[in-house]
Amino acid sequence: MARRKKKGRRGKEKIRAKKVIQAPKEELKRELKISAIDEGTVIDHIPTDATFKVVDILDLENHSGIVSIATNLQSKTIGRKAIIKVGGKSLTQSEVNKIAIVAPDATVNIIKNYDVREKIKVKTPDIIDNVVKCSNPVCITNNEQVPTKFYVLKKDPLKIKCHYCERSMGKEDIEII
Ligand code: CTP
Ligand code: ZN
Repeated sequence: MARRKKKGRRGKEKIRAKKVIQAPKEELKRELKISAIDEGTVIDHIPTDATFKVVDILDLENHSGIVSIATNLQSKTIGRKAIIKVGGKSLTQSEVNKIAIVAPDATVNIIKNYDVREKIKVKTPDIIDNVVKCSNPVCITNNEQVPTKFYVLKKDPLKIKCHYCERSMGKEDIEII
């Protein structure tokens, strides 16, 4: 590579070189908090309060591959966020749909051979079919074999309304089936 031109000013050059090296090292340290995965899925931009809901949705307790969970990280876009990296797993459409309900800003990255092959921005649907449990104990969906159905009134923060009993629910009431 390029050779140093000014031979007589080594002292100064040393200081400059040190400065240049320091910044990438710091960046590297930050990056290494959670290591990259070779194959699998990275779910990024998860609101911190949804971290373990995503863990439940994906049933990661029973996943035999690598699972890295980092929460309360600084995010440029959503304040604080969580990242979940799951080695050796690709998500089903149904899992992505469920994640969209608890983490409307999430990005699902599909990793192949260390590269991000696909980046999916999840989308909160207008109607949520058979994913969320109605919080009303007397709702027909809690008493008979009727799949739940909710209309999305507001996407962020999520507000939904039961098709059957008309109960409104906020994101704190949401329990994924
Ligand atoms: N990632 C990983 N393993 C890889 C490649 C990427 O764990 N082999 C992770 C990165 O650490 C990051 C996410 O997957 O958390 C998305 O990677 P990338 O698109 O490179 O990052 P950003 O540009 O920061 O993503 P965005 O624009 O969605 O914020
Ligand atoms: Zn109901």
